[in-house]
Amino acid sequence: MTFTLRALLVAASATRVLASCAHGTFLRPRAEEGGAVQVGTFGYIGTIGPLNWAALETPANNACATGTRQSPIDMVEGVFTVLQGSDVQLTVNDMPAGAEFENLGTTVEIITQGGTLNVADKQFELQQFHFHLPSEHLDNGTSQAMEMHMVFQSAAQEIAVVGAYINIADAAPAAATKKRSSRINNNNRRQEAAAPPAAAAITPTTLLETIFSVVDQIATPGTKVTTPPLVMSEVVDLLKANAFQIYAGSLTTPPCSEGVSWHVSTARLGVTPASFTKVRDVIGFNARYPQNTPGQPNLLMISALGSAAAAVADAAAAAA
Ligand SMILES: *[C@@H]1O[C@H](CO)[C@@H](O)[C@H](O)[C@H]1NC(C)=O
Ligand SMILES: [Zn+2]
Repeated sequence: MTFTLRALLVAASATRVLASCAHGTFLRPRAEEGGAVQVGTFGYIGTIGPLNWAALETPANNACATGTRQSPIDMVEGVFTVLQGSDVQLTVNDMPAGAEFENLGTTVEIITQGGTLNVADKQFELQQFHFHLPSEHLDNGTSQAMEMHMVFQSAAQEIAVVGAYINIADAAPAAATKKRSSRINNNNRRQEAAAPPAAAAITPTTLLETIFSVVDQIATPGTKVTTPPLVMSEVVDLLKANAFQIYAGSLTTPPCSEGVSWHVSTARLGVTPASFTKVRDVIGFNARYPQNTPGQPNLLMISALGSAAAAVADAAAAAA
């Protein structure tokens, strides 16, 4: 038992964590252009999962276990401030020749070709965007099908992330839905009037459909493919037309560094059920569990106290 634990710790400390939310930033520089895709060695399940990230590389990953402003969080009223999308300067260059799309083992990521975020008198440059499945942030207690993270870095090496929830698009084509609801209106207008306003239909986002059309070609970690041409204005315009929920948090992957400026959009991107299944079969599962309210103790510190108390109680019971 002791030997096993020691062997595990030695193996863990030798581990180099290469891929993360911070891939392409100063924290995790990318390999040289054209180089091999570097696959991450942390994970989401078992002893390489988020309960044990700090032990995988100490002291580099200590914030994962001790930080008090960790991400993701449940986006409930009171933990964020709201900034209108129209007040944020956001540009993302189109990629007319396609983009490099990599499987890092821990996520699938698009290497971008320029983009800026200007907020609070700071300028950030877009490095990449990648996907989590299911969503990492919770929208007022509710997880979403997926979440996209656009990672920006400033000249002073500060990090800002724009997060956008991705929902599964409504299965019924818009025309069929319209026809059905007009029939309901004719048959029962009173019931229709009493019903709460329907949530806006989720339509597939062309950018995501284009990207995920080739995700099956990078099913193996460490592989990459060039996407078809990518037009970014669709998503940028949608983000600007909605609002951002802003809070100061962390990277959601090792080394869990804090001081990350989060901008979680109230917009909804969409994927077709077929694309969702395709990307799910490649990603599997890559969401860190929701962290404590910003400013409150790290859940792992609270958990350690609970475990110690339970062990003392077990020992006392065994001695009795
Ligand atoms: C968030 O959820 C709570 C509890 O379910 C609910 O009372 C509240 O209205 C929700 N807030 C928003 C903004 O939807
Ligand atoms: Zn991420």
